[in-house]
Amino acid sequence: MAVPAPRKDINWSQLGLGFNLTVNGHIEVRHHQSTNQWTAPTLIANPNISISGLSPALNYGQQCYEGLKALRSPNNTISVFRPDFHWSRLCRSAEALCLPPPPKDLFLECIRRAVAANAEFVPPADSDAYLYIRPVLFGASARLALAPPEEVILAVYVQPARPYHGSEAVDGLVLEDFDRAAPRGMGGYKVGGNYAPVWRHAAKAKEMGYGITLHLDSATRTLVEEFSTSGFLGHKTVDGKDVLVVPKAHGAIASTTSDSMVRLAEREGWVVESAKVPFASLGGLDEVVAVGTAAAAVPIQRGKSADTEGWCWEVTGFVQPPPALGSLSMLGSLAHMVFGRGMKVSA
Ligand code: COI
Repeated sequence: MAVPAPRKDINWSQLGLGFNLTVNGHIEVRHHQSTNQWTAPTLIANPNISISGLSPALNYGQQCYEGLKALRSPNNTISVFRPDFHWSRLCRSAEALCLPPPPKDLFLECIRRAVAANAEFVPPADSDAYLYIRPVLFGASARLALAPPEEVILAVYVQPARPYHGSEAVDGLVLEDFDRAAPRGMGGYKVGGNYAPVWRHAAKAKEMGYGITLHLDSATRTLVEEFSTSGFLGHKTVDGKDVLVVPKAHGAIASTTSDSMVRLAEREGWVVESAKVPFASLGGLDEVVAVGTAAAAVPIQRGKSADTEGWCWEVTGFVQPPPALGSLSMLGSLAHMVFGRGMKVSA
């Protein structure tokens, strides 16, 4: 069957960032502890899910999620960006929260069906928009005792979206009075609890003119971890060679986009420096980019800590003539072009 064309009644360049468009439906599967079985994927038009108010998801935060992208190619095929990476990451989060990890085939089938049912919401190939795919896994049936419930739901939603921070360079603010990730804690997992507590800090930073917030390690407050919405990548030039700086941080959530950029950079002959990145060293970078599924690759022009005067880093690399392959944000778009040819979805 031919892949449906993008909807004509949507202005793809004006999509908001609210992720609240009505689409054709989402996919649900349920796991029952007593049988250790998953139900078959079902397409459901109503986005509301009925769960117990006594569920561990609502009471204890037994919930994790993923964020993937589907892209349309110029010849009207649709592919999902590295779904296997997202499956592995979801399984890791699930294990940490005593949720059953969905089998890979089932996860991929849910993604495929969610995208196929909503193929008309996959933006045109020449747009910077994409179809955002949001699988969410949570403990759904009543259980106030501190143990996993009988029923767990995996629901896969989609929403057309544009890059979360826009595509212009923004300034970043280091959060000084909030620790997102404890040294042996849950900061490195894709769980809802890592996001909501940041909103009030991000909103305050936004009022002050900062487009993005950055977390340092909570043990020493000297090392870069990640941005609140996305991963951190730096670029510097050493002896004429392009070096990609990738922070090694326990509290950072593994990023598909970052991983793809690392692979592409290696392929293009860049040196990849994966190490602890002292915040004090950021002044030596030519570029800083925030990378993530929703964020894509956002140039971070300048960074500041709430407690210090002046800029901690100020980079101009992405507005200067591009080095070697191009700027780091260019590498981000290329990563999507190269690795976006992942799982094909037909309607
Ligand atoms: C993603 O990029 O998938 C995220 O979960 C980040 C969030 C700001 C939407």
